[in-house]
Amino acid sequence: SSIRYYSVVRQGFEYVNEDDVNYFKSVLGERNVITDEEELAIVNTDWLKTMKGSSGVLLQPSCPSEVSKVLSYCNSRRLAVVPQGGNTGLVGGSVPIFDEIVLSTKRLNKILSLDPVTGILSCESGCILEALDNKAAEYDLMMPLDLGAKGSCHIGGNVATNAGGIRLLRYGNLHGSILGLEAVLANGERLDMMTTNKKDNTGYDLKHLFVGSEGTLGIITKVAVQCAQRPNSFHVAFLGLESFENVLKTVQSAKQSLNEILSSCEFMDDESMECVTKNLGLRLPIQRHPFYMLLETSGSSSYHDEEKLNDFLEKSFNSGVILDGTLTGEPSKIKDMWALRERIAEGLLRDGYCYKYDVSVPLSKFYDLVTDMRERLGSSVVRCCGYGHLGDGNLHLNLTGEIFDPDVFALIEPYVYERVGDWKGSISAEHGLGYKKRNYIHLSKSQSAISLMQQLKSLLDPNGILNPYKVLPSFK
Ligand code: FAD
Ligand code: MLT
Ligand code: ZN
Repeated sequence: SSIRYYSVVRQGFEYVNEDDVNYFKSVLGERNVITDEEELAIVNTDWLKTMKGSSGVLLQPSCPSEVSKVLSYCNSRRLAVVPQGGNTGLVGGSVPIFDEIVLSTKRLNKILSLDPVTGILSCESGCILEALDNKAAEYDLMMPLDLGAKGSCHIGGNVATNAGGIRLLRYGNLHGSILGLEAVLANGERLDMMTTNKKDNTGYDLKHLFVGSEGTLGIITKVAVQCAQRPNSFHVAFLGLESFENVLKTVQSAKQSLNEILSSCEFMDDESMECVTKNLGLRLPIQRHPFYMLLETSGSSSYHDEEKLNDFLEKSFNSGVILDGTLTGEPSKIKDMWALRERIAEGLLRDGYCYKYDVSVPLSKFYDLVTDMRERLGSSVVRCCGYGHLGDGNLHLNLTGEIFDPDVFALIEPYVYERVGDWKGSISAEHGLGYKKRNYIHLSKSQSAISLMQQLKSLLDPNGILNPYKVLPSFK
């Protein structure tokens, strides 16, 4: 069922009529203008199954010039549009709130070039992340980002949300790895910023406006990505720990001992592991402990990496900081260990309803929020768990119930966000604001910054047709 997180009023956009549908068909072809209810139900619903829009039209352009024609038309007719990639977004940004047209990038899926020497890959925005990574692998290269949704998310969606994921610790976020992009503005203009130069300090670097803009400033149609060299040695250590204090000690010592080969530093509490073992039937490789860490190293020499890891583990065991742990370099075991971490989001959905929070908090307070919420909510929730990209200070706090409960919701929000705001953290570390979090933006951004964002939105999309009700607050 659809949950209105707060009251929202449909803005004065036009309604799609038969002439509009005929125009879209003339540009995109009959098959790529979808009005079938079953197909629409899919694009109207978010991955978490918490939101349901009522769009009556799905458009599937096959090239940037078709995107341009369609947007220019929608702008002149004042028809609202939601750009949609793989629809794996977690903040209600990729689905319509009312009857906005859904514009999918699914058919913008061409790889344009891949330079094996520089490692720069250019492609259209609808390419699936995993498909790009497979292509990169043919040249011993790797996409600089990786996330649980890689099999269905699009690179355009990744750029539009500035997705983080499990390798950000090593490769940084997409503001660093995206070298260029093309975006189609609301009026249909194609804004070409497709440089493939690693260095380019000529004027304002406008592409950054679109990285993390969540479909509100333009539709990203092409990107140029700096791939990383694909490591030929991967190892994963799965650790069990007694206290959060020891988790923090391990972060520090892992950074010191593993330094340049450390590629992921992830955290899970026992409640998260109970979720994937119980709800998905996965098996833990070690005994149960209050806290777990998944450390991944990757490099060019297995011998060298293993030596460093063994050294690190030995020291950590001897000092009593780590209670239990297992280390593997075997691809199938690595995959199984990663599944324990990457499939938590999926496991949580099996409880029923998931209240999902994705915050940046100071490491010293990282787990306090989870403990606090556990006390605050008691038995009113099925589960209260914490996991996340510990190495980047990014906590995923998740609460589940059998169904959405407005009383529980009122205990969670705005409380969670205010605590994060008090700590000067970020109320959205990597998922974006979308629809669900936009009204809390002021807790992480200054009034003057929000006001400039609003001015930029008006400049680039004066009719406000691009992804309305998202990112910017509903109040001025
Ligand atoms: P969508 O969900 O379709 O869209 C997301 C937003 O981007 C929407 O606002 C949409 O309007 C906009 N958008 C999409 N394409 C375009 C475009 N071409 N031009 C302009 N705007 C566009 N996120 C992380 O940061 N780190 C993680 O580790 C992570 N793990 C995940 C694991 C799972 C299992 C799932 C389901 C999600 C996860 N996410 C994670 C959420 C993340 O935001 C998305 O997976 C991904 O980046 C979104 O890509 P998408 O193609 O599905 O975009
Ligand atoms: C993750 O790190 O698993 C994703 O961001 C999804 C989530 O937060 O549940
Ligand atoms: Zn995440």
